[in-house]
Amino acid sequence: MATNTPTFFSTALIEWYHRHRRPLPWRETTEPYAIWLSEIILQQTRVRQGLPYYLKFIERFPRIHDLANAPEDEVLRLWQGLGYYSRARNLHYTAKQVVSEFGGIFPASYAGLLQLKGVGSYTAAAIASFAYREPVAVLDGNVYRVLARVFGRHENIAAPASKKVFEEIANAHIPTGNPDTFNQAIMEFGAIQCTPVAPDCLFCPLQQECFAFQHGLINVLPVKEKTKSSRQRFFHYFVLQHEGKIYLKKRPGNDIWQGLYDFFTLETDSLFPIPELIQEQVFDALGLPPFPVNSTGKVYKHILSHQKVSAQFYLISLPFRLREETEESIGLQLYSISEIEELPKPILIHSFLDEHFF
Ligand code: ADE
Ligand code: SF4
Repeated sequence: MATNTPTFFSTALIEWYHRHRRPLPWRETTEPYAIWLSEIILQQTRVRQGLPYYLKFIERFPRIHDLANAPEDEVLRLWQGLGYYSRARNLHYTAKQVVSEFGGIFPASYAGLLQLKGVGSYTAAAIASFAYREPVAVLDGNVYRVLARVFGRHENIAAPASKKVFEEIANAHIPTGNPDTFNQAIMEFGAIQCTPVAPDCLFCPLQQECFAFQHGLINVLPVKEKTKSSRQRFFHYFVLQHEGKIYLKKRPGNDIWQGLYDFFTLETDSLFPIPELIQEQVFDALGLPPFPVNSTGKVYKHILSHQKVSAQFYLISLPFRLREETEESIGLQLYSISEIEELPKPILIHSFLDEHFF
């Protein structure tokens, strides 16, 4: 790692940061556990939405051992609403890994941190710089945007190959004596000043040096060309009730929402399933006689990074339990409403239950 002295860029950013920084709890600590936790949450959401989650997690799991020893369901339940549950599972896994392999102490360097599951170059750089003051630049969406604009780089920030270019620029400017403040500053500057739409160029300390501003390119930079299109899915949830309880099942490991609970599901390629399909894949599968069912009429939508889910719910009251073999082969189990409240669920399931049962 080269030794960097301050540059026009790092100096302006750090000065700006001292005047504009938001006081945030993870900025008041050099505890790697707290920093790691905050960064995993903030990868998932904005500061304002992430803050209550961070506070909840720190309160419930003040030390990494508390998180490592918690049941997975509880971790997922606390994560509920943040989405992308594989992150919560990785979080839990990493906590266990740090406890079992490293005695509860995070590796003390960028390279060491990269060995942890779910810790990529961004998170490793954040922890290494904030906790250990190691001069490694962080690169997230905010940082890419600031760098592309100030230094006039036209590389597509969505292309993995561009990462090296931006990494080199940031690592050339991170001051060896103040890497933590520089990293906080560049992220904060992207979040508050150099925003995606309508950046505050008029009152910007980098205006004179900023390539995008000087060349009228703030609406062109950064270049971001998405390639992957998203897949539309239709879920039909059959809410089977019996004596005040509801059948739920845990979602399998090979699909979205792994490990979360939902209802008996029919997935189709359109919003309106044909009756024959319901007959065969719902009634026959459940060992039930046919009878007419209607959805509640409301379509619930949820957007994930590469999928859009539209869901409808069908309320069914059963005068009897399902056969034991059917329950077991599908994985359905009856739960009371208060038990259901405690289970980790996709947010769409939670919203439905909230409107009908909670
Ligand atoms: N977003 C990601 N990391 C952050 C941090 N440390 N402070 C504020 N916003 C962030
Ligand atoms: Fe961003 Fe505008 Fe400042 Fe350039 S002048 S760094 S585009 S806010």
